[in-house]
Amino acid sequence: MDLERINRFVSDVEKSIKSPAHAVKGEEYLTGVDLGTSYIVIVVLDSKRNPVACDMEYAEVVKDGLVVDFTGASNIVRRLKRNIEERTGIELTKAAIAVPPGTGKRDADAHRYVVEGAGLNVTAILDEPTAANSVLNITDGVVVDIGGGTTGLSIFENGRPVYTADEPTGGVHLSLVIAGQYRISFDEAEKLKKTKERQKEIFNVVRPVIQKMASIIRKHIKSFKVDTVYLVGGTCCLEGFENVIEKETGIKTVKPSNPLLITPIGIALNCSDKEGD
Ligand SMILES: Nc1ncnc2c1ncn2[C@@H]1O[C@H](COP(=O)(O)OP(=O)(O)OP(=O)(O)O)[C@@H](O)[C@H]1O
Ligand SMILES: [Mg+2]
Repeated sequence: MDLERINRFVSDVEKSIKSPAHAVKGEEYLTGVDLGTSYIVIVVLDSKRNPVACDMEYAEVVKDGLVVDFTGASNIVRRLKRNIEERTGIELTKAAIAVPPGTGKRDADAHRYVVEGAGLNVTAILDEPTAANSVLNITDGVVVDIGGGTTGLSIFENGRPVYTADEPTGGVHLSLVIAGQYRISFDEAEKLKKTKERQKEIFNVVRPVIQKMASIIRKHIKSFKVDTVYLVGGTCCLEGFENVIEKETGIKTVKPSNPLLITPIGIALNCSDKEGD
């Protein structure tokens, strides 16, 4: 894994949020839609995997990986799609999507219908940590995707996933603890958690929750030979998050520069060139 190259790639995707590329005639575009508990994210790449556009919206339409507000979710995807189309001149026709590991067919279909309802042909449904590994390209180790509501985990050996799991814990729990500690609303706690100047103080409040997340990782990897933990998902954005995981698991822990974008980018990388499925 080449962390420098990954960080450059992610930073180019970040730049495309403000400055998207413009349509090139005859170009095939790859789209990834990540329907998360906290964010719905769309990433568009060109056929050479160059970042083209990215947009996201905070939303509470998915809970623990399950769609709970179908119309709301579809409306957000449609809005994000239209905004990107207006800014780039590209017509988005197809997309890959991802669900937490172990999601049943019926729930995965709900994700598919949300995205199809927004006018995108779904070309692939992946599991989230596997999507993330399309960016990381690790052959051995564990990819842990700590999002808003879920922690997904995939262990890789010789480049293949040998174990996946999903646990109902994520950034929402950090925010609930912050809300309780400061006696503020959940929305205020979400904001406070992301305030750079308060990160040190906040970190002390949420450390026990992060330690609990580390113990969940430890529990899942205990029967495997894992020498590196790779952290993705927005919750890992917290400064120093990786240090707690490394200390508690005793395993080398690696975190890319913007962990929130890794899974959405990985989903886009898996949008096949063929339409339909
Ligand atoms: N800078 C930040 N510092 C701390 N937490 C952050 C930061 N940015 C985002 N988060 C948290 O990351 C979480 C969202 O991450 P992500 O987008 O990976 O989750 P999701 O895909 O929406 O959810 P899930 O995968 O669980 O369905 C939220 O809890 C959010 O508060
Ligand atoms: Mg996610």
